[in-house]
Amino acid sequence: MKNKFFIKTMGCQMNEYDSDLIGQELVANGWEKTDKIDNADLVIINTCTVRKKPEHKAYSLIGRVLSMKRKNPDMVIAVIGCLVQHKKSYIMDRFPDIDMIIGPREVVRFLEYLKEVYTKKKKVISTCLNTPLKSPPFVKGYFRGKVTAYVSIMQGCNNFCSYCIVPYVRGREISRPVNEILQEVEFLVSEGIKEITLLGQNVNSYKWDDLDFASLLEKISKIRGLLRLRFTTSHPKDLSERLILCFGELENLCPHIHLPFQAGSNKILSLMRRNYTREKYLELIDKLRHIRPDISITSDVMVGFPGETEDDFYDTIDLIKKVEFDNLYSFKYSDRPGTPAEKMQNKVDEKEKLARLIQLQSIQKDITLKKNKSLEGKEVEILVEGLSKKGDQFTGRTPTNKIVNFDGNINMIGKIVKVQIVQSFANSLVGSFTKNVR
Ligand code: SAH
Ligand code: SF4
Ligand code: F3S
Repeated sequence: MKNKFFIKTMGCQMNEYDSDLIGQELVANGWEKTDKIDNADLVIINTCTVRKKPEHKAYSLIGRVLSMKRKNPDMVIAVIGCLVQHKKSYIMDRFPDIDMIIGPREVVRFLEYLKEVYTKKKKVISTCLNTPLKSPPFVKGYFRGKVTAYVSIMQGCNNFCSYCIVPYVRGREISRPVNEILQEVEFLVSEGIKEITLLGQNVNSYKWDDLDFASLLEKISKIRGLLRLRFTTSHPKDLSERLILCFGELENLCPHIHLPFQAGSNKILSLMRRNYTREKYLELIDKLRHIRPDISITSDVMVGFPGETEDDFYDTIDLIKKVEFDNLYSFKYSDRPGTPAEKMQNKVDEKEKLARLIQLQSIQKDITLKKNKSLEGKEVEILVEGLSKKGDQFTGRTPTNKIVNFDGNINMIGKIVKVQIVQSFANSLVGSFTKNVR
């Protein structure tokens, strides 16, 4: 009988990539993945701490899983990821029955640690931030049925934006060797993956010998069989002219960029230590749209940063109206212990933050809807990924990363097809199949 593992992943795509790295290691060593937590011999919780909310979600899940362990003491519980790095001692004290507590840079040693838990019957706790990077073991069949995949090209962050905990929990920036990245993409394509998203906290600072991010993109885009290439995240301060030009030159590079702006007021941007101004940001948007008029632009924004006045907030609203983002991820500023922003004066009241968030989201919803409505009647290409969320249709994404649901069939999965948009909502579009492309 094979041992079964269950992984719950919270947080960003980095964590999803890490969970799959562990998943591949486990499968390569005879483990079987299960979607049923109570069937599992090993439960892994991959945590996030970017804001307070994911932190509290993790604690409640850990509590639930530990109560299962009380009934089934052989169940091994591993809590991993960014929250662990930040709150190791707290987690150890509050949940002494966890078997394994390891930080995000230690996931590459997961299997080694798991063996210690089983053979030496001891707890493993490790949050080293200098562990060398490692490629996943390239397990055939692991991604069966999948059409898209992530490939991490770097770890960590050196930017230390004043509100952000990521540099403290993921360590200093380090790039993966170019040949390992190419090998991984080639493997995934040979396994049937058609679309790759390259991951890094700040992909623009990728560097391997003399090779920069734009050159890496060029190399990857040439891999045969790779239909679509994407990347995330870009920092506006480092978005290079060469990278912007890639959007006009590389055929399989999708016309979509996620370019977080965080705030529209120069005073707040400076307090956030973002190292660009609203003018510079708007200039980048113009350049991108000049090179690739159909590019879709998405972003992250925060409301209620310490010191944010009504006027500062309206600068953010003004920027949103000027740019007209295709989609926007918006958050209430959340104090992260140990960051410079936590110690700042003039904190904005929770109620006020919420009011600003609601106002901002309502304005953005209208913009997103207007943009999506403008696609009605148009034909778009989508890469078919599988069944829709509701399960009654098939789903795919446009090159601009918009979700389209349509009546298709199972043979279309992994193929690019054309659909005509018949109805638009804020979060998805409905299409009608017109023809196969490839
Ligand atoms: N490296 C990426 C962002 C990673 S965190 C970048 O620089 O763009 C993802 C998003 O979470 C950020 O863009 C920011 O909008 C939000 N975020 C980060 N720290 C936060 C905090 N303390 N409170 C609220 N939102 C935060
Ligand atoms: Fe955080 Fe800034 Fe680094 Fe992004 S660039 S991970 S927001 S410190
Ligand atoms: Fe990602 Fe959350 Fe860590 S956003 S980098 S999983 S703190």
